Amino acid sequence: MKSKHKISLFNISIILLLFITTGCYYDQVMPLEIEGDVSYSVDIQSFFDAKCISCHGGNEAPNLTSPGSYTVLISDNYINTSDPASSLLYVKIIAGGSMEGYASDTERAITLKWIEQGAIEN
Ligand code: HEC
Repeated sequence: MKSKHKISLFNISIILLLFITTGCYYDQVMPLEIEGDVSYSVDIQSFFDAKCISCHGGNEAPNLTSPGSYTVLISDNYINTSDPASSLLYVKIIAGGSMEGYASDTERAITLKWIEQGAIEN
């Protein structure tokens, strides 16, 4: 009786594990669909504040602190609105980019969406 109970708990953990790993797998493979307008001040700047400005706070280019990050990104050509996915800001944070480890899939998708929507200072 006791060992049977153990086995079923084990089975449940396996199922849970499969569920969790499959969830991660889909996160990476399926492009995230971001609904609505992305706001620079709300979405992008808060992403920089949380994940980037510890290094990009003035010493390391680009300076991603507020205010001023938007001007730096545009005038130093980190953004390419005619080919959003080739923007250096985006290329750096996606898989294979040297900043890959600092951004989540959602943050990558939001960044790309913001550029696709014209990279406006909204
Ligand atoms: C631990 C420090 C650190 C963090 C955190 C960090 N970066 Fe960087 N970043 C660097 C260094 C060092 C370089 C220069 C070397 C390189 O390009 O990989 C760099 C380079 C870059 C460049 C290219 C600069 C150029 O002119 O070629 C971009 C764009 C960039 N980072 C964006 C980001 C973004 C966006 C984040 C947050 C998601 C971030 N970085 C987080 C240290 C960091």
